[in-house]
Amino acid sequence: MSYLQGEKPISITKLLSMHAEGEKITMLTAYDSTMSALLNRCGVEVILVGDSLGNVIQGHSSTTPVTVEQMAYHTECVNRANSSAFLIADLPFASYGDPEQALDSSAALMRAGADMVKLEGGGDWQVDIIHYLVKRSVPVCAHLGLLPQSVHLLGGYKVQGKSKDAATHMLEQALACQEAGAQMVVLEAIPASLGEKITAELHIPTIGIGAGADCSGQVLVLQDMLGISPGKAPKFVKNFLDGHTSIEAAVKAYVREVKSGKFPGPEHGFAG
Ligand code: KIV
Repeated sequence: MSYLQGEKPISITKLLSMHAEGEKITMLTAYDSTMSALLNRCGVEVILVGDSLGNVIQGHSSTTPVTVEQMAYHTECVNRANSSAFLIADLPFASYGDPEQALDSSAALMRAGADMVKLEGGGDWQVDIIHYLVKRSVPVCAHLGLLPQSVHLLGGYKVQGKSKDAATHMLEQALACQEAGAQMVVLEAIPASLGEKITAELHIPTIGIGAGADCSGQVLVLQDMLGISPGKAPKFVKNFLDGHTSIEAAVKAYVREVKSGKFPGPEHGFAG
């Protein structure tokens, strides 16, 4: 099929117009072809090849050991079975420390099939990297709030943006990422009121994971929402396999509940 005929149904243009029309965006992680095909069948609009594969697939206690080569391998696996979803791949820990390295890492992920790359943090240096990448035609999703790649610096997985100052700072960072050219931002583990505020102030979509119901869309780690991740699930996770007899039915329920605004409920969120 020629490139003029073969556009995927879900492009960034489609996601931005869904956002403009107030339709919630559904995103889930996948790391392999089988789950990629399943998410496509269920109508999930965005697949994230998250560096959470360090936990979920590799069994590490953090995402920091994950390499660009491993991310590219899993992106290729997901991409082979992806017929319609928009595909985002995470730039892993220490793979975007300077502009040239960020461009090389992004190129590896985009050659593997990613439509966009995601990077963590909204400090001055990350904003500069976003600007540099976007100028070179790499679409970027920012990630603010709880930054799993910084877990060793933060001293654990903690809710972020709880004080007034921290909330104001995060809003400023979100605006700076947007200004630099980011076309989407993931907000992780922040008060629902802050998720609502950032979403209202930005014109690009916000995708929440523990950031309240007012974000433009939602994301969860697939294994978490199927209730098969070991240990205690974070508060923002709902087990969608509960009450359903197949993975496909669980994922379809997630899509329905995100679209209708039923998920996340107040019980999945954090107070300011
Ligand atoms: O790596 C990942 O799966 C993520 C999500 C938790 C948003 O970044």
